[in-house]
Amino acid sequence: MNWKKALDSMQPYKPGRSIDEAKRIYGLDDVVKLASNENPYGCAPSVRDYLTSAAIQHELYPDGYAGGLRKKLAEKHGVDETSLLFGNGSDEIIMIISRALLGKGVNTVMATPTFPQYAHNARIEGAEIREVPLKDGHHDLEGFLGAIDGETAVAWLCNPNNPTGNLIPSDTLKGFLEQVSENILVVLDEAYFEYITGSEHIDSISWLEKFPNVIILRTFSKAYGLAAFRVGYAIGDPEVISNLNKVRSPFNNNSLGLAVAEKALEDEAFIEHCRNLNHEQRLRFTKYASDNKLHLFDSETNFVLIAVPGDADDASEKLLQQGFIIRSGNALGTPGYIRVTIGSEEQTSNFLKAFDTLLQSEGSAV
Ligand SMILES: Cc1ncc(COP(=O)(O)O)c(C=O)c1O
Repeated sequence: MNWKKALDSMQPYKPGRSIDEAKRIYGLDDVVKLASNENPYGCAPSVRDYLTSAAIQHELYPDGYAGGLRKKLAEKHGVDETSLLFGNGSDEIIMIISRALLGKGVNTVMATPTFPQYAHNARIEGAEIREVPLKDGHHDLEGFLGAIDGETAVAWLCNPNNPTGNLIPSDTLKGFLEQVSENILVVLDEAYFEYITGSEHIDSISWLEKFPNVIILRTFSKAYGLAAFRVGYAIGDPEVISNLNKVRSPFNNNSLGLAVAEKALEDEAFIEHCRNLNHEQRLRFTKYASDNKLHLFDSETNFVLIAVPGDADDASEKLLQQGFIIRSGNALGTPGYIRVTIGSEEQTSNFLKAFDTLLQSEGSAV
């Protein structure tokens, strides 16, 4: 068959170890997954109740316009309904953007390391990928400006960045947007927006009128605790959204996903509660790293990237043996580090104990 050449050098997505697999391999009773930045508190209790009672008309196609959810989100964000695009997770929106704008003869600019789906989709579409190394874990926006040229179609900013967790200061970001050509789509991937606690952060939605070439991605997978339902959305200029909508498949979100996402918007107090709990546990990681003289990137998300003694794959395996699935930095472009989802208070206490054991085994305990 005549496959796209780009596929020759690519691998299908390799999921990390599942909880059941880890239990089986190491004979463990309890395994905690802290690898995919899901919400350890689940979803709002009202959403859980709704799920046990919801009667979805399963014989009907879902609402391809996502009318109910669209109306609620438009109200929440103070934008027009035509400014919204829905995806089967924000992953699918990344694919839609790539499909609509990338191909042979154009290039796309992104940080490295960052969320891998930008490069993954660009490769499939045959676009040139220009990666700008992070500086001390931060986006190098001057570097972005240097990499951008007349053939650049899309610039991706993961904000806060996965896997480092840090945030581009709002004034720096605004300065960048002012300098980028309006012919380039600037994607602000804000999957972790709800976890940001920095008081200086400006909600980028307020900039959309000034910068119609900006599109913002958000998701129900993280703070809303609905990763299984695959609902993400984009907010942007109606003309940009309309073009992307041409690429979207007609029924890309299922009925149950749309219904629970809509329900979840009714409980913003739950999101605030999760943000506060996450912040408290994040501070414990910061203190732990400082007490143990380990480097940790400043995080505004529900995960931290923390240095480990020795090889990150070895450290990950040792933590797995103690019942914690985390991500080795070797696979994320950050060797010497692991990425850990911030769990509940109890999960964090137990994880830090396991980390103590790791440090002792490596002779690195302070
Ligand atoms: C930065 C970033 N963007 C997008 C996604 C995709 O999220 P989803 O497709 O679940 O909305 C993730 C998931 O980990 C992420 O970390």
